[in-house]
This record gives sequence, C-alpha cells and structure tokens, in this order.
Amino acid sequence: MNKQLIVALSKGRILDETLPLLADAGIEPAEDLGKSRKLLFDTNLPDVKLVVIRATDVPTYVQLGAADLGVAGKDVLLEHGAEGLYEPLDLEIAGCKLMTAGVKGAEPARARRRVATKFVNVARRYYAEQGIQAEVIKLYGAMELAPLMNLADEIVDIVDTGNTLRANGMEPRELIASISTRLVVNKAAMTMKHEHLKPLIERLRAAVAKRR
Ligand code: ATP
Ligand code: PRP
Ligand code: MG
Repeated sequence: MNKQLIVALSKGRILDETLPLLADAGIEPAEDLGKSRKLLFDTNLPDVKLVVIRATDVPTYVQLGAADLGVAGKDVLLEHGAEGLYEPLDLEIAGCKLMTAGVKGAEPARARRRVATKFVNVARRYYAEQGIQAEVIKLYGAMELAPLMNLADEIVDIVDTGNTLRANGMEPRELIASISTRLVVNKAAMTMKHEHLKPLIERLRAAVAKRR
C-alpha cells in the first residue's frame, strides 16, 4: 500500500503563513523552501513530501491525485471548481474579499458590461446570477489598470485593504465571496489513505484553532 502523502503548497503570499501551521501540525520541510530552486521537498516525516507550485495549479494537482492534499485560496477553488476535491478545513489565513470594482463615481452604463478579471468562471457565474449581461475579458494580473485604460467597465478581483483600488482611482462595488485559504484533499485519497490523512487533518485543525 502506498503510504506516501504529497502536500501541494501555493507559493507566493500564502506560503509564509502556511509553514507555521504545518510546523504546528508536526510537518517541517527538511530544508529552507525560500533558499532553494527545488520544487519537491522532503520533510521531517519520512512519509510526507511537499511540492511548492503556482497557487492556481494546486487544485489541479490534488484533483488529479498527483498530490493528496493541497493548500489554496477559496478564490482559486471557486474558479477551478471543486470536482474531485474535499475541502475539510478553513486554514483562516490570507483573508480577503472577491469583489467587483469600478472607476470611482462612474456608473456601469453599458447594457453589456465589459468585465476584466483572471476569475473568468466566477465572473461569468456571478453576472449571470445577477441577470447582468457581461463580456468577460481574461487578464493575468493588474486588473485595476483595465478600467483606467478603457479596456473594461468593471473588474472582478481580490480586495484586502482597498489600497490598490484607491491608488488607481477605483472603488469596490459588490461582494462576490469572502475568501480565506483552505485545505483540500483528493477524494480518492480521503478513502484510500484515510487512516493516514485523518490525524494530519486533525493536527492542522488544532493548529488553526490555537491561533484564534
Ligand atoms: P500568481 O502570482 O501565481 O498569479 P496569485 O496572485 O493568485 O498567483 P498570490 O498573490 O500569492 O498569488 O495570492 C495567493 C492567494 O492569496 C490568493 O489566491 C488569495 O486567496 C490570497 N490573496 C491574494 N491577494 C491577497 C491580498 N491582497 N490580501 C490577502 N490575501 C490575498
Ligand atoms: C492582490 C490583488 C489586488 C491586491 C488587493 O494583488 O490582485 O491587486 O492584492 O490588495 P489590497 O486591497 O490590500 O490592495 P497582488 O499584490 O497579489 O498582485 P498580483 O497582481 O501579482 O497578484
Ligand atoms: Mg497575487
């Protein structure tokens, strides 16, 4: 029986907050993740390995079973879809909001609103639910620039402090979802490796509770 557990971690801003939680749950990388160009890491536990990948790739690795567990933002999970994934635990880190936003004071006048975002699936779903016709334009970053350049009437993006919006003359409009970082588990692994996964999830749950 394969007893190995692979945990997929999002690199970027989530990683620094994830590592202390993992340490509290008894998992520590065998070397400094920040100092290495490696992507696959051993840990203090012989049966647990870590992969550090793009946040948007984490659900794919876990869904397809290349990783058993993953750590990803709810925004990424909403965009990717939850098929093949369980989401047993809110890690309560990297809290932010997924919102629509537009140029300060400007009315979204057009009948068919042009919306720039990297969250195209979330945006299509949201505007359809609102009964608003939207042309969704895929961008990979700096969404706040799009309305200023008249590329879009509105954006769908992450808002935390609101500083990025303010700095670009924009304002938040509607809340689409409150976001935090989640633990996800491959559905098949949850069954096949349950005895192995359960204590790890519970130790992470305790680590989260300790921080409240
Ligand atoms: P990439 O840089 O690889 O395109 P990304 O921009 O989604 O991906 P990060 O900026 O590291 O990667 O964000 C990772 C996660 O952190 C997001 O999925 C979201 O859940 C959360 N997040 C993003 N921006 C903020 C923010 N300003 N404040 C708090 N949490 C945030
Ligand atoms: C994120 C997000 C917003 C900003 C929101 O960008 O896409 O632009 O943070 O945070 P604020 O409300 O506190 O300003 P990030 O810094 O991750 O840059 P990115 O475009 O490279 O993802
Ligand atoms: Mg980012």
